Amino acid sequence: MGQVKIKSEKELAGLRAACRLAAATLEQTAPLIVEGITTNEINQFVHRFTLQHGGKPAPLNYHGYPKSICTSINEVICHGIPSKRKLKNGDIINVDITTILDGWHGDVSAMFYVGTPSEIAKTLVETTRECLRLAIAQVKPGARLGDIGAAIQRHAEGHGFSVVRDFVGHGIGRGFHEEPQVPHFGQAGRGLRLEKGMTFTIEPMINQGVWHMRILEDTWTAVTADGLLSAQFEHTVAVTEDGVEVLTAFASPLLHSEVFPEGR
Ligand code: MF3
Ligand code: CO
Ligand code: CO
Repeated sequence: MGQVKIKSEKELAGLRAACRLAAATLEQTAPLIVEGITTNEINQFVHRFTLQHGGKPAPLNYHGYPKSICTSINEVICHGIPSKRKLKNGDIINVDITTILDGWHGDVSAMFYVGTPSEIAKTLVETTRECLRLAIAQVKPGARLGDIGAAIQRHAEGHGFSVVRDFVGHGIGRGFHEEPQVPHFGQAGRGLRLEKGMTFTIEPMINQGVWHMRILEDTWTAVTADGLLSAQFEHTVAVTEDGVEVLTAFASPLLHSEVFPEGR
């Protein structure tokens, strides 16, 4: 538990650097995500790239997690463990990267299409991308956490999809998962009031069918209860004087369809 930590300008600079490395790592990883590559190979690339740039992959050994990233394919909601599995045409995959740099954590994830997606996969992924964009647009001093959840829920359910309840966004800083919890559903005008210097992730997981999940025997992999598709995007954000800074925003054209409010 503990309190919501307000970051000073100096602390924000540290967090910003970690987030920039996490985002750059995901950008460099994107071109590798093609038919035939194994999720172990993606894991190994991220692991090496992170170390080469002075960082550490946060997931490795985190509560016993065995790999450096999470790779969640198709019906996997989150925490998919890299393996010898090869990506195949039509798969959708979330790659989730958390980087520690000088003691600060940057957390970012995105969906990728392998080859040609089905119509429903495309609609689910693009709707989830929009959910994160709409959620980020809610962030400013005086807004409530419920405004974020409500924006996501309204958009996802408006498209006939459901919002995962069992996993939430989280405060982030020197800790990987800090206060507050950031639900991706809820009521506008409710919950914690946002203040300048708060830093947290928003990481909606949106399901094609029911929101319920189960955990596989490996004790990590969360899959949809009905076996239908799930999608997720994640950014780390900071509340600023008059709005939001997306700390894990991308620079490269490859991910320019990515989520951040206009003009940032
Ligand atoms: N990166 C995930 C998140 O967004 C957490 C992964 S924890 C792990 O919060 F142990 F599974 F890696
Ligand atoms: Co996160
Ligand atoms: Co993450």
